[in-house]
Amino acid sequence: MTYSAAVAGASGYAGGELLRLLLGHPAIQVGPVAGGSKAGQLLGEVHPQLPELASSRLLPTDPDVLAESDIVFLALPHGQSASIARVLPADQRIVDLGADFRLGDEGAWKAFYNDSYAGHWLYGLPELAGAREQISEATRVANPGCYPTSVAIAMAPLLAEGLVGDLVTVVAASGTSGAGRSPTETLLASQVMGSMSPYKVGGVHQHTPEMEQTLTHAAGRDIAVSFTPLLAPMPRGILATCSIDLADGVRTEDLRECLHAAYASERFVTVLPDGRWPQTSSTLGGNSVHLQAAADPRTGRAIVVAAMDNLVKGAAGQAMQNANLMLGIAEDAGLTDTGVAP
Ligand SMILES: NC(=O)c1ccc[n+]([C@@H]2O[C@H](COP(=O)([O-])OP(=O)(O)OC[C@H]3O[C@@H](n4cnc5c(N)ncnc54)[C@H](OP(=O)(O)O)[C@@H]3O)[C@@H](O)[C@H]2O)c1
Repeated sequence: MTYSAAVAGASGYAGGELLRLLLGHPAIQVGPVAGGSKAGQLLGEVHPQLPELASSRLLPTDPDVLAESDIVFLALPHGQSASIARVLPADQRIVDLGADFRLGDEGAWKAFYNDSYAGHWLYGLPELAGAREQISEATRVANPGCYPTSVAIAMAPLLAEGLVGDLVTVVAASGTSGAGRSPTETLLASQVMGSMSPYKVGGVHQHTPEMEQTLTHAAGRDIAVSFTPLLAPMPRGILATCSIDLADGVRTEDLRECLHAAYASERFVTVLPDGRWPQTSSTLGGNSVHLQAAADPRTGRAIVVAAMDNLVKGAAGQAMQNANLMLGIAEDAGLTDTGVAP
C-alpha cells in the first residue's frame, strides 16, 4: 500500500528535509506541498537540491489543499499550526514539527512563547520508554524540538535509573539552520563564520520547559534544566553537553551500561565505544543520535554528550519515524542512520 503525505511549510528548511526523505520512502509519496510567501513558486527555485520535484508548484497553505492526504506534516513557525489542525478532519493523521502542541502546561507555554495556548498532543519521541506504542495509535503527534531531542535521549535513561541528580546543565551548540530560513542579521555569514556565540542566555530559551517536561516524566520526579544555547559556524548539527550530579558511587561504567541497556535495540541511537566522543559530522544527514558518557569523580558530575543533525533526528527524520508508526509501517522506512562525512 502507498500513502500520500502533504507538507505545509514545504519551502522551509524542515519542510525541504521532509521532502528529501519522502523521495526515498518506499511507502509514502509526496502529495500536495504548501508554502507561505513562496506559494506559487516552483520547488526547483526553492529547493534546487530536489531535482525530482523541480516542476512541483508550492500551493497556498489552505486546509482544503492538505485534507485529502493520508498524513499531513506541518512544518510551520510556532503559532501557525493550531488554526490549520483545528479544521482538518479529526481522523486525519498529523505530525506537527512546530512547538504548538508540545507542552502540557499552559503556564509554561505562555511564559516562554508569549502566545495563546493551543493544547497538548502526544509527544512523539519513539525512543522514550512506552512512547512507541502510544504513537502507533495516535492521529495527532507533536514532534519534539531539536535541542530537546538531544537532551532527552542523553539524559532520560540515567534519570529513570536514579544514577544522577535533578538539575541538568545543558550547553548545546547548533548550526544556523536551526533558526530556519528567514534572513536575520545575526545569521549573516559575516557574523557567523569563524565565530561562536551564546544566545537566549539565562534560562529563557523556549525549549527549556519542553526539556523539563520530558525529563520530569522520565525521572518520575521534578527535574530542572539550566540551558545555554550556542550558535556554531556550520549549517547543520547539534552538539549537546549535559552535566549533572552523580548519585553516590556511580562510575563511568554504570553510566555507559545504563545507556547501552536503554538503546541496545534502537536503530537510531548509538552509544559510541569507550573513549570515542560524538561529533556532529558523523551524524550529518542521518537520522541518528551519537552518545558518550563519563563520570568525573573529582567533581562528582556525570557528563553526557549527544550529537545529531537538527534537521533529521531533530526534525524531519523524527517526524518520519512518527508518521511510519502512525501509518503502521516499519518505523525505519525511508530512514537511515548513515551520515555524510566529511
Ligand atoms: N530548523 C530546525 O532545525 C528545526 C528543528 C526542529 C523543529 N523545527 C520547527 O519546524 C518548524 C519549521 O522550521 P524551519 O526551520 O523549517 O523554518 P523556516 O525555514 O523558516 O520555514 C518556515 C516555513 O513555514 C512557512 N510559513 C511561515 N509563515 C507561514 C504562514 N503564516 N502560513 C503558511 N506558511 C507559513 C514558510 O513559508 P514561506 O517561506 O513560503 O513564507 C516556510 O515554508 C518550526 O516550528 C521550527 O521550530 C525546526
